[in-house]
Parts: sequence; C-alpha cells; structure tokens
Amino acid sequence: MSQNGLGPSGHPAVSRTPSLLGIETSCDETAAAALSLQGRVLSNVVASQHEVHGRFGGVVPELASRKHVETIEEVTHAALELAGLAWADVQVIAVTRGPGLAGALVVGVSFGKALAYALGVPCIGVHHLEGHIASAWLEEPDFVTPCIALVVSGGHTHLYLIHERGEYELLGRTLDDAAGEAFDKGAKMLGLPYPGGPALDRLAQSGDPSVVRFPRPYLNREGFHFSFSGLKTALLYYLRDQQRQGKALPALAHVAAGYQEAIVDVLVEKSFRAVRRCHVSGLAVVGGVSANSRLRAVLRSRSEKEGVRLALPRVDFCTDNAAMIALAGWWAHHRQRWSSWDVDAQPSLGLESVPPGQRSGVRN
Ligand code: KG4
Ligand code: ZN
Repeated sequence: MSQNGLGPSGHPAVSRTPSLLGIETSCDETAAAALSLQGRVLSNVVASQHEVHGRFGGVVPELASRKHVETIEEVTHAALELAGLAWADVQVIAVTRGPGLAGALVVGVSFGKALAYALGVPCIGVHHLEGHIASAWLEEPDFVTPCIALVVSGGHTHLYLIHERGEYELLGRTLDDAAGEAFDKGAKMLGLPYPGGPALDRLAQSGDPSVVRFPRPYLNREGFHFSFSGLKTALLYYLRDQQRQGKALPALAHVAAGYQEAIVDVLVEKSFRAVRRCHVSGLAVVGGVSANSRLRAVLRSRSEKEGVRLALPRVDFCTDNAAMIALAGWWAHHRQRWSSWDVDAQPSLGLESVPPGQRSGVRN
C-alpha cells in the first residue's frame, strides 16, 4: 500500500480540518484520500492489486472485486489516520460511480454510501474521467480554463475541450483500443510482465526510437479521433516477419522505443492541434498513460516551444487514485450537486455535458 500524507514538511498532517473523503475502486486499485474543504490534499493512499492479477496477465474482474472488499476498510482508515482526521471531521464523501468494472464499482459505491449514511453527511457519485480531469488541478489550483484535456488511460483516449470545470466538450476519442491498451498489448507481445505500460516505458528508455518505425495511425486525418488497433497489429506482423525470415531482431529495447514513439507522436500531435484549433492556452494531460516518461518529456519540450501552459500531474496522481476523485467531488460539493441515496455503480457511464461541436465548432 502506498501512502502519501501531505502534511507540513513531509510529516503526516495533524490538523483537525473539516474534510472530504474520496474513494476509488473502479478497476484494480483500492484508493482513499482526504481533502481539506479548502481543496488541499491531506492524504492519498493506494493499494494496488498488481500482484493479484500479474500471473493472469491482466485484470480478472471477480478477483478485483474480492480484493476491494478485503482492502477498502483498511485503506480508508489509513487515509484518515495519515491526514490526522477523525470520522467526525468528514463532511462529505465522494466515490467513483463509473465507468469501470461493475463488481469493483459496486464495492466502492456501497461502502461510500453506507459510510455517508452512518456519518450523516452527503455522498457524491463521481465520474472516473472527471476525476482524471480534476487531477490536473490537484497541484495547480489556478490552472487555466478553457483548456484542452487529453485523458489517456487503460480504457480511454479522449480529447476534451474544457470550457470550465464541469463543462466538457468531447472533441475526439479512440475508435478502438485506448492508448493504455496499446501499451499493455504491445508489452505482452514483447514478452513483458503485467502491468505492461510501465514495463514497456522502462525497456524503451534504453532503446533508440528511430531504429524501427511504426505507423502513426490517424495522424494525417482531419479531426480528433484516434485508432490504435492497427498499430498493435503492425507490431504483431513486425515480430512475426522477423521470426519467419529468420532475422535477428534489433534489440527489443529499440522495438519498444519505436512502438512507444508512434503512440506518443499521435497523442502529442493531436493535443497540440486541438490547442491551436480551439484557441486555448492550456493543455492538461491526465490518466495512467500520462505517467509515461517519453510522453512527459515530449509534452514538456513541445509546450515550452509553443508557449502552451501544460498541466501534467505528478506520477501518482496520473494513475488511478482517490485524491482526484475527492477533488472532482469537491467541485460538485461547491455546486451543491450531491447525489441522492439511490446513486449506483454505472459501468458504462458517459461524461459529455456539451454536445460535440456545439460550442467549439469542431466536428470529426
Ligand atoms: O488511469 P489508469 O491508472 O487506469 C484506468 O483508468 O484505466 O491507467 C492505467 C493504464 C494502463 O494501461 C497502464 O499500462 C498505463 O495506464 N500506464 C502506462 C504507464 N503507467 C501506467 N503506460 C505507459 N507508460 C507508463 N509509464
Ligand atoms: Zn483511471
């Protein structure tokens, strides 16, 4: 369990602050975090299930739900303790209600609702992607709107124009695999262990991306949609052809670096295109894939060159965590958008609040 109490000078916070408690169980991370009612992160605890799923090479939904049941109470206690809070300090509970794995979501939502009911405080069901978007503001509360947000995770590759907090216009999305899936499936083909994204990132660090060139899907098309399934197939054929022709592969690190470069190129190019097209000055890149070291480096140098303000959360705020859910809940709390007691897990919950093209004029 990784614990992160952000009190003064790195010590656990000791203040008795009225707080908001965030809970996240949408996939394979059981997470809880406390946020002060001024929006400051007091603690951020994540119990990863990588060990449970590792030997299966991917997330097993039933095992994920069981593990959440086993862990959620301990994780929540740890988040409170690390923040120096008592139950009586919790004024609001925010919990991920979707999208995600049905059984996994049910654990968090039932736990969050029961806790809120017992404490007599409101409960807020949070959209997981809104949580990722909010993560851009965790360390930069004054980050600009309107801005572009690229949400890149295991299940999503979505490009949004954020008019203001809570008002999102979808510009484009992946038509097949998400960028995280492209990383994970590519890593599997290269024989890397689960979780594949971080493993491929590490391997690629010692490779040269120009040795093997992979296609940049959808880069030359107008619009803001993505497609990564063809890239995955290109890697499969490349590996198969090398083997068939009896050729020795260039070092696997070069292959990984070339494959990663194709994903990074497409994500970066489309994001900056959206910034220019929508005439905004800020770009937020969030979600698990934004932890990728090459993506981070390219985004930083490009935004510096183009004078774009970049929000790139620190790595433990990129991958699934409850601090981001707490902050999205905090936004809803300030707009008095509390959920009713029948709030439920919604595995396929959508986010769009402004119809595509309505305010930006951008159509795919
Ligand atoms: O946001 P997240 O933690 O969970 C979802 O909402 O899906 O994203 C998980 C995804 C996985 O596909 C994982 O392989 C990918 O993010 N990921 C990475 C890196 N760290 C996590 N992909 C590439 N490089 C990384 N360093
Ligand atoms: Zn996520």
